[in-house]
Amino acid sequence: MTLFLVVPAAGVGSRMKADRPKQYLLLQGRPLMAHTLSRLHDAFPEAVLVLCLDHEDDRFDASMVPFARWQRVRGGETRAESVRAGLASVAEQAAPDDLVLVHDVARPCVQVEDLYRLHAAAGEHADGALLAAPVADTMKRADDCGGVLRTESRAHLFHALTPQGFRYDLLCQALDAARAGGVEVTDEASAIEALGRSPRLVPGRRDNIKVTHPEDLALAGALLALPGG
Ligand code: C5P
Repeated sequence: MTLFLVVPAAGVGSRMKADRPKQYLLLQGRPLMAHTLSRLHDAFPEAVLVLCLDHEDDRFDASMVPFARWQRVRGGETRAESVRAGLASVAEQAAPDDLVLVHDVARPCVQVEDLYRLHAAAGEHADGALLAAPVADTMKRADDCGGVLRTESRAHLFHALTPQGFRYDLLCQALDAARAGGVEVTDEASAIEALGRSPRLVPGRRDNIKVTHPEDLALAGALLALPGG
């Protein structure tokens, strides 16, 4: 069985308001992307990496990739389209039952232990699995004017993190169906759910943050600087 790691990295990161896409911002002197790929390689050195990049990306440098087996593919207009392109690029190599882990390039702080647990759960559950963290804050639903409509129970609410892992054929089927049905897909699990299936929530560390806003970069840098971080 081959393990495929699909890393969508074709976003422009507009919320970061930086002079370059966030995957190329420096953390401890290295591009954010290099940290993320190193973490994945620490856990799965034998995996096949599929890196989805914007077609106009001229900052990418192959020295950021520690994997022996990897390929670059042209990303799409949305994250889901980037992942679909990545899956299509390995259609000849992938067996239907091969596992695919999808991980945001913008999550450089993921820990190897979480990667192993997610990988194991994705292999055990037919509907796949995702790392997820229980919501800690009280959750408010807003009305259209910015007032509080009501307080939502947080008892069963989780932040969906990555990686998210699924069998190759299931993930292809789910993303194709979501596209055909116009389903909004902001993570792979939502496409699987739209098929009526139930991916497994695997408790993940809350410091597996997605670098999205300017303040997140300093936080990610501090987390990486911690012993064992
Ligand atoms: O924008 P957001 O932070 O939700 O993006 C999540 C991930 O999807 C990032 O790693 C980003 O680079 C990637 N992405 C992509 N193709 C797009 C948009 C986002 O690969 N068209």
